[in-house]
Amino acid sequence: MQVVVCKDPEEGARIVTEKILSALEDRPELVLGLATGSTPIGVYQHLIEAHKNDGVDFSAVRTFNLDEYCGLSGDHPQSYRAFMREHLFTGLNIPAENIHFPPSEGPELGEKCRQHEEEILQAGGIDIQLLGIGSNGHIGFNEPTSSLASRTRIKTLTEKTLRDNSRFYEDPSEQPQVASTLGIGTILDAKCILLQAYGEKKAEAVKASVEGPISSFWPGSALQMHADVTFILDEASAARLEMIDYFRKSRAEGLRLQEDNTI
Ligand code: GLP
Repeated sequence: MQVVVCKDPEEGARIVTEKILSALEDRPELVLGLATGSTPIGVYQHLIEAHKNDGVDFSAVRTFNLDEYCGLSGDHPQSYRAFMREHLFTGLNIPAENIHFPPSEGPELGEKCRQHEEEILQAGGIDIQLLGIGSNGHIGFNEPTSSLASRTRIKTLTEKTLRDNSRFYEDPSEQPQVASTLGIGTILDAKCILLQAYGEKKAEAVKASVEGPISSFWPGSALQMHADVTFILDEASAARLEMIDYFRKSRAEGLRLQEDNTI
């Protein structure tokens, strides 16, 4: 696990963007696992700039979003499909057929979720999975007590998550109570995971995920079992880490070793 404490979210967004663009250079048909929420927006803006200003081509990229609310149509402004169109897809040249969301509408969602797992496998698996984290430690919509081996499925949202996201709904009765989400097991199958978390509100979840015992009560802690995961933090979200000085030292040493061409 790597923990990078940035001076601000902008530095974090630049680091994540560079990783994606360098992977895309090596592999034009990159498979990206994408997240919603305010956290990844900086990265999405930089990817759009790279496409518009530097001609970076996304035409062979495949994407799999982490989650989607059940019961909202793709046109609903609070659906994650609408969010992704607004913040990323309209600014890039990813063909519509390369864009995937976990199934969230219509009958037989259980079976459709299983098919969704197949589609990820057929794409060759997720190369880079972007993550944010909920203040209760959820990743995607894998709420506390989600099985650490879970696959794509429907989850009921916790009161805490509903409260955190209630600001987006004028009429509380419109807020979905369930969502479909890639499972923790699905996320752990990604080849590389980049989790961004910014602000004091995330400090407890970051502490539990990075330094706590692995527990389904803090779903982010499952990432400790992944061989290539990086937590990209700012000072506020990293503030409760006991090992913060070590993480700072390790980043500085890593950069030095890279400059020396040792690694
Ligand atoms: C939602 C999403 C998560 C996201 C989280 C944090 O609940 N399902 O994938 O990580 O919110 O959102 P934000 O980045 O706005 O803090």
